[in-house]
Amino acid sequence: MYLELSHLKKSFGEKTVVEDLTLSLPQGELLCILGSSGCGKTTTLNMIGGFLAPDSGQILVDGEDITAIPPERRPVTTVFQSYGLFPHMTVLQNVVYGLKFQRIRRAEAREKGLRYLEMVGLADYAGAYIHEISGGQQQRVALARALIVEPKLCLLDEPFSNLDAALRVKMRQELKSLQRELGMTMVFVTHDQEEALILADRMAIMEQGRVLQYDAPLHIYHNPVSPFVADFLGLKDLEWRQDGALLKIIRRDDKEEHHAG
Ligand SMILES: Nc1ncnc2c1ncn2[C@@H]1O[C@H](COP(=O)(O)OP(=O)(O)OP(=O)(O)O)[C@@H](O)[C@H]1O
Ligand SMILES: [Mg+2]
Repeated sequence: MYLELSHLKKSFGEKTVVEDLTLSLPQGELLCILGSSGCGKTTTLNMIGGFLAPDSGQILVDGEDITAIPPERRPVTTVFQSYGLFPHMTVLQNVVYGLKFQRIRRAEAREKGLRYLEMVGLADYAGAYIHEISGGQQQRVALARALIVEPKLCLLDEPFSNLDAALRVKMRQELKSLQRELGMTMVFVTHDQEEALILADRMAIMEQGRVLQYDAPLHIYHNPVSPFVADFLGLKDLEWRQDGALLKIIRRDDKEEHHAG
């Protein structure tokens, strides 16, 4: 497994925010962590990125224990929920920033930067400053800035939250094809069920700091482990056997019915 999270725990004061979190992800796959606001998604990403130290547990990347390694030395790039752009730099300068640390010529970096700006639909804004562009545009600059360095492991914290529906769909497709093309391993945090079902190779349903279910999205969709998971995925109703096994799923659209073993 390329990424292994083993029994991660994090508390703030009395409050345990992440509890015994164990997940593993093969190289080149996209993991969606899906959960409601406050369930511990950002806290989890911050531990993988190295911005928060877990109270206990381990993080391994490519077999190496990185739990105690500072963020800048981890083979990980993060797209923060709050963007974290450099306000004194232009859009293009922000995007090519990470290339400074790679052996790449200026002209080449510029050309690559413009290509990534094109991909996120911001080619016309290369020279603008961050305060001159909208929130949704800033979000796309943050995405381009992270992806341009073609990180082996990319963490994305609700990277499309500020985009309208049409742009969301487009950015999803761009991200998925880039991820496939470059074989990037990604951890993508969202509270959007549809986004998770579409993007994920594997999906973790999280609630109150715990992973309730971890599997391929369609497997979870057809075999939710509990009424909570089913409800969270937008299923209308379920029939449970007395022993707690799931007998039947009835969807919100009320037409389809699926039998789960
Ligand atoms: N630095 C901190 N100090 C104290 N409590 C914190 C801190 N960071 C997070 N928390 C608490 O931990 C819980 C989980 O926060 P987290 O940011 O991980 O949630 P989230 O799943 O990312 O939510 P959202 O979808 O709203 O971004 C919340 O109840 C939050 O108040
Ligand atoms: Mg968050």
